[in-house]
Amino acid sequence: MKNKVLFIVTIIVVFLLGLLASSIINRKSEAKYKYVPKVDISENEARNVVWGENYQKEYQSFLQTVDTSFSSFQGGSAMRDMLEEDPRLVVLFAGYGFSKDYNQGRGHSYAIEDIHNTLRTGGPKGAGDGPMPATCWTCKSPDVPRLMNEIGIEEFYKGKWADKGAEVVNSIGCADCHDPKSMKLRITRPALVEAFDAMGKDINNATHQEMRSLVCAQCHVEYYFNKNLPGKEGIPYLVFPWKNGMAVEDMEKYYDDLEFKDWTHKISKTPMLKAQHPGYETYITGVHADRGVSCADCHMPYKSEGGQKFTDHHIQSPLNNMANACQVCHREEGNKLMANVFERQRKSTENRLKLEDLLVKAHIEAKKAWDLGATEEQMAAILTDIRHAQWRWDYAAASHGASFHSPVETARVIGGGLMIAQEARVKLVRLLAGLGHNEPVAMPDISSKEKAQAYIGLDIEKLEVEKEEFKKTLLPKWLKEAKAREAKLDANTVSMKEE
Ligand code: HEC
Ligand code: HEC
Ligand code: HEC
Ligand code: HEC
Repeated sequence: MKNKVLFIVTIIVVFLLGLLASSIINRKSEAKYKYVPKVDISENEARNVVWGENYQKEYQSFLQTVDTSFSSFQGGSAMRDMLEEDPRLVVLFAGYGFSKDYNQGRGHSYAIEDIHNTLRTGGPKGAGDGPMPATCWTCKSPDVPRLMNEIGIEEFYKGKWADKGAEVVNSIGCADCHDPKSMKLRITRPALVEAFDAMGKDINNATHQEMRSLVCAQCHVEYYFNKNLPGKEGIPYLVFPWKNGMAVEDMEKYYDDLEFKDWTHKISKTPMLKAQHPGYETYITGVHADRGVSCADCHMPYKSEGGQKFTDHHIQSPLNNMANACQVCHREEGNKLMANVFERQRKSTENRLKLEDLLVKAHIEAKKAWDLGATEEQMAAILTDIRHAQWRWDYAAASHGASFHSPVETARVIGGGLMIAQEARVKLVRLLAGLGHNEPVAMPDISSKEKAQAYIGLDIEKLEVEKEEFKKTLLPKWLKEAKAREAKLDANTVSMKEE
């Protein structure tokens, strides 16, 4: 009996040891499979699929950014027409591209497609044509670092958007964030390096954890095009306005000192600032950043598959992935954390919409004052108020995620905006009364996107026809040219694989 038991125990032990050994061998071959590169990735390799040959798990997860099925209270990957959802924006952006067409950001896979399609880039007929400068490509593609290496930074920024249409074709990807040889995180956008320089900091001293946010700060930031940089006159050079700091007041002072404006408002004639998407600047002021939590911790958490841990490259709303994104640190239920996020977003939205209402009114009342013969001198202080109030609104509204990333700062910025917008309207009431208008200014019907666009005098049909023409004629040419260029590279890659 004893022998029998010993025999069975021995068999079980041997079996388990066998399992362990086979698992170790599997892991080893997995590791080998992972670390022996299949292709030699060149310094200027912009094609994500080529990188994907060596790093399949990261690549497979990266491909999931095409998914557009997730939608939350404020975010998600679904296409959302912001002008349809909130026609007030049409009035706020009158005279500027965002009044034509404005969709909420979606997955990185769509960066190229979406910039082709938006009415903001117009319908160029060829090189040298269209409303936008080449600089607009900067945050869209790993072809950008490639081109900057090949032709130089200034040459890249120079000229029109249409000039580089056949060159920039791969959507945001590996080469934007990684060094091809070491796979270390790297900064590929000169504007971020230059912004650190301007603040007297060296980005090379950033810690590994900081780099896990700084790779995002190459694009998710406030920026402008400076055409007057000494020695670079006429080139719309990309600059992050961080010299005085990243707070809303710091950047405002920076722009005011330069007397910079992104556009002149079509209704109120205000010299306006457009906040692009100061996501990094607002995140920095939040409690997560304060505790050293990086963008990648929430938007690219670790994931396990087949016993392998890797970084999930499906960059998206963390609310679609709370177990990995939040619950590694927080013990609370997913629903509770989700409710925390929505509460911050809802409360922030409440005041943001109030500020929007005030701004719409201020623009339209300013127009009335001009119509009644107000002088530039009389209008100057009012327009400065409108500029500053809308800058605050935009800083809070366009910094995607800020109402969660940093709810207290977001509330402070909107609060400041509310106060300044009211100041503008108090001055307007006084001025209008002086000009003989002593009653509320009539407001137009802007209850839909179409009505608001008609009010500001946009001919959307014309823009749409131009865009269709572009998509039928010039765009296919770009894509064909790019394919031919990359086919030549393919020959090289294949020969490397065969070596
Ligand atoms: C503590 C976790 C956390 C950190 C850290 C974090 N985010 Fe977020 N982020 C979120 C959450 C939660 C949302 C809200 C998502 C939603 O509304 O669906 C969000 C929203 C966003 C959005 C809008 C997404 C959408 O679907 O519309 C962007 C863009 C974004 N974050 C970028 C960043 C960047 C860039 C950083 C670093 C500078 C960062 N985030 C840091 C959790 C985080
Ligand atoms: C090369 C520029 C670039 C870099 C680098 C970059 N982004 Fe983006 N990101 C974009 C653009 C452009 C979009 C909008 C794409 C669209 O809608 O076509 C976007 C969209 C997003 C979205 C919305 C996607 C969705 O499905 O809700 C999130 C979240 C996001 N980025 C987070 C990050 C994080 C986190 C990092 C750093 C790990 C990062 N991004 C790095 C340019 C960039
Ligand atoms: C927006 C920036 C960004 C892009 C684009 C990006 N990565 Fe990453 N990648 C990261 C970050 C952040 C990490 C985590 C690095 C760390 O903490 O050391 C990472 C880690 C990795 C690692 C290390 C192993 C791991 O899983 O943690 C590999 C390999 C990798 N990425 C491959 C790729 C490939 C292949 C692509 C293109 C298909 C790509 N990455 C695109 C930001 C990016
Ligand atoms: C790497 C760890 C880490 C991750 C990941 C993380 N958090 Fe946090 N979170 C913290 C820390 C640390 C604090 C600060 C409070 C504290 O020390 O307890 C905090 C604070 C918070 C707070 C209260 C702060 C406020 O804004 O009022 C909320 C809400 C929150 N986190 C939600 C989330 C959600 C939702 C996610 C996922 C999208 C997330 N956290 C991801 C570490 C993390």
